Amino acid sequence: MSLILGHRGASAYAPDNTRSAFELAVQQGADGVETDIHLTKDGIPVIQHNYEIDRNSNGKGYVEQMTYDELLQYDFGSWKGEQFKGEKILSLDEALEIAQRSMSLINLELKQTMHFNSPIVEKTIEAVKKHKMVDRVMLSSFDYALLQKAQLLCPEMLIAALYDEAEVKQNNIEEILKDPASYISNLGFDFANPHIDYLCEEGIVEKFTQKGIGVTVWTVDKPYIAQMCVKRGVKCIITNKPKVICKAVREICD
Ligand code: G3P
Ligand code: MG
Repeated sequence: MSLILGHRGASAYAPDNTRSAFELAVQQGADGVETDIHLTKDGIPVIQHNYEIDRNSNGKGYVEQMTYDELLQYDFGSWKGEQFKGEKILSLDEALEIAQRSMSLINLELKQTMHFNSPIVEKTIEAVKKHKMVDRVMLSSFDYALLQKAQLLCPEMLIAALYDEAEVKQNNIEEILKDPASYISNLGFDFANPHIDYLCEEGIVEKFTQKGIGVTVWTVDKPYIAQMCVKRGVKCIITNKPKVICKAVREICD
């Protein structure tokens, strides 16, 4: 059976990438969450999707240009509803504490950094090791250089290559779309994490499986698509709506 991961937590129902969203994902039956990491100005890995905090907080500016203490002043919940008022930005440490006690897998997505030589990989691995979570983390990124660095530093951790049309163009790796299984296999990564659009091709999961690569797909919020993914042998399904997708997957697995 496929594992279900809440995309930034149960982000359809709670402010994305917050404690509420993570806890709700678990309550709704998810096996874990997918979440995004940036480094603060003072080098603390934090949980946040966008580079700026303007969309999902009452503050403004770039995470990389603010210290962790500055970020703690802001409210990351109210934009989604009064009931979430006072949600603070989560540090990676706090996210791993939640995962440690309640999740069988957490997918940490390293966001690309604006700084050459950023220690985001080292800091993330340090936190994962501190929480003894190496065997329950899947590390993913659109930036394969970050993944290659992680692979060298922590070969036992699962490494997953994300891809979608926009990001492969931006990173000049359109080549991957011709034969993603060979491309990812040559890099020696464990998982391919394509956008759902790339799973429409019949037999695509088998191509990865033959090369010993698992498939995680994002973002799946429709029950029939989740059921198709399970039937095709997808290992992990990332969804904004764990409640809906867990029910759909149970229906065909029970
Ligand atoms: O990891 C899957 C997905 O989260 C990648 O895109 O922009 O939602 O982080 P994004
Ligand atoms: Mg993400």
